[in-house]
Amino acid sequence: MTEHDDFLTGRIARIPAPNHDADWERLTTQARIAMTRAYVPYSDYPVGAAALLEDGSIVSGCNVENASYGLTLCAECTMIGALQMAGGGKIVAFTCVNRQGEYITPCGRCRQLLLEFSAETMHVRTARGATTLAALLPESFGPRDLEMNDLENR
Ligand code: THU
Repeated sequence: MTEHDDFLTGRIARIPAPNHDADWERLTTQARIAMTRAYVPYSDYPVGAAALLEDGSIVSGCNVENASYGLTLCAECTMIGALQMAGGGKIVAFTCVNRQGEYITPCGRCRQLLLEFSAETMHVRTARGATTLAALLPESFGPRDLEMNDLENR
């Protein structure tokens, strides 16, 4: 049975949800370290992001602003770039923090970026606790929609 079949049948995927406090603590620490690398001369609002991948490794990123404000890279953007550069993978758990080290929720655009590399049960830690990416981005359009299109065109 493929991952795709699991999705269709609603079967709970094999990917473990990182509900262990230790995993979230490890991830939060990495997000806080990443936050210290932020380049934020315009907003003075540093953000650090970190993701736990299926293979147990962690990738992180920080926001990098630009004099042309709209071109700012969110912490999630640089993190996704780092993920791909490190060989790719699927995100099992994600979190991002502000200067105080408090949890913030990813902006709309970044939810879509996260979806591209998400494991089916990806969890996100926010100030209100752990939730799923599906809850933060309902009725999303993602890679699986394009896969279905391919199947129909065969
Ligand atoms: N920011 C992020 O890095 N990620 C988010 O999900 C929300 C916003 C950054 C962008 C900008 O550099 C600063 O926070 C203020 O908006």
